[in-house]
Amino acid sequence: TAARLTLDPRFPIGAVRRRLFGGFVEHLGRHVYDGIYEPGHPEADEQGFRRDVLDLVRELGVSMIRYPGGNFVSGFRWEDSVGPRAQRPRRLDLAWHSTETNEIGLHEFADWLDKAGSELMLAVNLGTRGTLEAIDLLEYSNVPGGSTLSQQRIDNGREAPFGVQVWCLGNEMDGPWQLGHRSADDYGKIASQTAKGMRQLDPSIELVVCGSSGAQMPTFGEWERIVLEHTYDDVDMISCHAYYQEHDGDIDSFLASATDMDRFIDAVIATADHVGAVRGSDKRIGISFDEWNVWYMDRVASVKPAAIDDWPVAPRLLEDVYSALDAVVFGSLMISLLKHADRVASASLAQLVNVIAPIMTEPGGPSWRQTTFFPFAITSRLAQGDAVRLQVESPVIETEKFGAVPAVDAVATHDPETGATAIFLVHRGRAEAIELRIDVAGLGDVEVAEAHLLHDDDPYARNTLEDPDRVQPGALETRVVDGILYVTLPPIAWAAVSLA
Ligand code: AHR
Repeated sequence: TAARLTLDPRFPIGAVRRRLFGGFVEHLGRHVYDGIYEPGHPEADEQGFRRDVLDLVRELGVSMIRYPGGNFVSGFRWEDSVGPRAQRPRRLDLAWHSTETNEIGLHEFADWLDKAGSELMLAVNLGTRGTLEAIDLLEYSNVPGGSTLSQQRIDNGREAPFGVQVWCLGNEMDGPWQLGHRSADDYGKIASQTAKGMRQLDPSIELVVCGSSGAQMPTFGEWERIVLEHTYDDVDMISCHAYYQEHDGDIDSFLASATDMDRFIDAVIATADHVGAVRGSDKRIGISFDEWNVWYMDRVASVKPAAIDDWPVAPRLLEDVYSALDAVVFGSLMISLLKHADRVASASLAQLVNVIAPIMTEPGGPSWRQTTFFPFAITSRLAQGDAVRLQVESPVIETEKFGAVPAVDAVATHDPETGATAIFLVHRGRAEAIELRIDVAGLGDVEVAEAHLLHDDDPYARNTLEDPDRVQPGALETRVVDGILYVTLPPIAWAAVSLA
């Protein structure tokens, strides 16, 4: 079988913003403690941060990192996490039924980000706290000096403001599991009030209001409409969260998960634009896809405490071990994000280390790359300039959830300055290999610079502590003849080709 694709760089979708390659660090399980931070580990630096993990985070190429939650943020008092460490309180984290020692807080995390070369995105607690606490945190973070809170930051060791540009107004407020869960109307009111207050303090910030925790939520669509009716003039972006997994052996639907992501994004854009149209506004709301990944939620062990006095520090939670199949789906989700580069202004892979993560660590032991590390790192490195849609004529696969879906999906990026072009491809068919004939004549005379293939004959092959390099990206055979790029993809494969 074969598929024909056409790439014409004269029709860009939009600029590829670096913030599309963001991450997410939540105080959850072994993410912070025994993940990025492990004093006493042979790789620990002078602050207790693991150097090997920092190296992997840099290699992954994560731009902005959302912090400190997640569900965690809805019970979080930010003041606990600053000031002399010995005086910081130990708190019970109700979201994950753990003890938060506050050993790592805002200052330490900002130091870690400086080392990682990433930008800080902060979430405020709108679950159990309100407008004033959010404004206080903004003052502490962004005001250069001259006020009590900004002086506290200086006294705590940071002369220069953190200068946090992007702020999330709470987390998943539509979810009944969220501490302080509200109706769309109630949340819309407090989000609008908080956004206005925060902007009174710092008009330069960008604000993300909570959208739905997933397109499957019963309030999806109406939630976005009502929340945006309250906040349209106050915010820049609305969030989307989506996690995918194979259900009951339905591999075809799982492989086609990006169809759901495409439809989710399109529906949120339509809803936001509807609210804008009713208001007669020419402002356009962007999307912050600030949680996305493959996540086997079915396999999550209960996080309820076994007893009233059982609140472990950094327990093993959500430590999914990803397969080659998961990585192919993951790569296709990145294709979906790039295909919407005109409206998806930022995105955060949830999460980064140990917790549904591309990077794993063992206490006192090694760190390694999960299968999902590769599509992220390669896409983040190669995607430059503008995202460009490809015309795709492909055979279809039949799926239970989405009906007939093209076996091949693709997106390209093209930098008009340098001419650098990258094509990201996924083959979701399971039966046989497919030959792709990609018309790249519109690029002029080009050659293949790099070609990477992510595929394993065993789709369930994984990288583990015992076998950390089992799944690796391999070389992909390509040739360009008369303006046609020929690539053959095996079943269940993700690939990237860069042309120069
Ligand atoms: O990423 C794990 C959890 O998923 C986050 O804490 C929450 O926001 C979402 O439900």
